[in-house]
Amino acid sequence: MENSCQDNRAISPLLSLREISKSFDGVEALQSVDLDLFSGEILGLVGDNGAGKSTLIKILSGVHAPDTGQLNIGGRQVDFKTYDVRRARRLGIETVFQDCSLGEKQPLWRNIFVGRPITNRLGFIRVREQKRAALEILHHHVGLKGAGINANARVRHLSGGERQGLTIGRAMYFDSRIIVLDEPTTALSLKEVDKVLSFVGQIVRQDKACIYISHNMSHLYRVAHRIVLMNRGRIVGEYLKNDLSLEELGVKLMMAHTISDGGR
Ligand SMILES: Nc1ncnc2c1ncn2[C@@H]1O[C@H](COP(=O)(O)OP(=O)(O)OP(=O)(O)O)[C@@H](O)[C@H]1O
Ligand SMILES: [Mg+2]
Repeated sequence: MENSCQDNRAISPLLSLREISKSFDGVEALQSVDLDLFSGEILGLVGDNGAGKSTLIKILSGVHAPDTGQLNIGGRQVDFKTYDVRRARRLGIETVFQDCSLGEKQPLWRNIFVGRPITNRLGFIRVREQKRAALEILHHHVGLKGAGINANARVRHLSGGERQGLTIGRAMYFDSRIIVLDEPTTALSLKEVDKVLSFVGQIVRQDKACIYISHNMSHLYRVAHRIVLMNRGRIVGEYLKNDLSLEELGVKLMMAHTISDGGR
């Protein structure tokens, strides 16, 4: 692996993935991947279509179990037999998936609070409070003000950008420690993109970390501190942003692509 990171970190990572491998019907989507994420950093994950980026973060987020490998969160090893999206959320990992896996038929407010309701002292769910908070998230955290935005609106009636905004708003509201964003800006307008990028930028000021996946190199370069390059299920490069210009990043990507094409 090409490695221009000279950063010898004394601190232990917020999470680490070790020797993660995953195949789908004989296709090796991931081959012995190691990845660390440190507090206060935004890690950009890049690579061609099919490189394995989404598969890797789906393992981290509890969607898929790997065939082999380990995941440590906060120094504790995760048992993949009992690890799922809910458990990942409880451990502070909130993910905005590329394929927007929201409960389509649910109203907005329920979608935001599913699995983590606001309750009163007796444990009863406070629906009115959840609706109020849902609107606050949508209006103020992500600035969604479209005509169809009200707490009772169904998720399936939202536009693509509004859906992505909703999942990002959920991550903001729950103040998650580790935020994973898989192509969060593809369906967004310029103004919404700015909001997402400034939200990601705020993460570093708090005790959090983010994995940011994007094919849009200028968006990714704006926010990432460290960039990891994947190719055909492996990590093939790791760079500190300060050591690499946006143009050089583009060249690295193109080279990885050319090599995987066998130079064709
Ligand atoms: N559920 C699945 N079933 C079968 N194959 C899958 C599945 N998920 C991913 N794959 C395969 O694994 C490989 C890696 O896919 P993945 O979605 O992780 O790539 P990616 O880097 O996220 O690509 P993109 O940039 O296009 O989103 C691909 O060859 C893909 O076809
Ligand atoms: Mg993907």
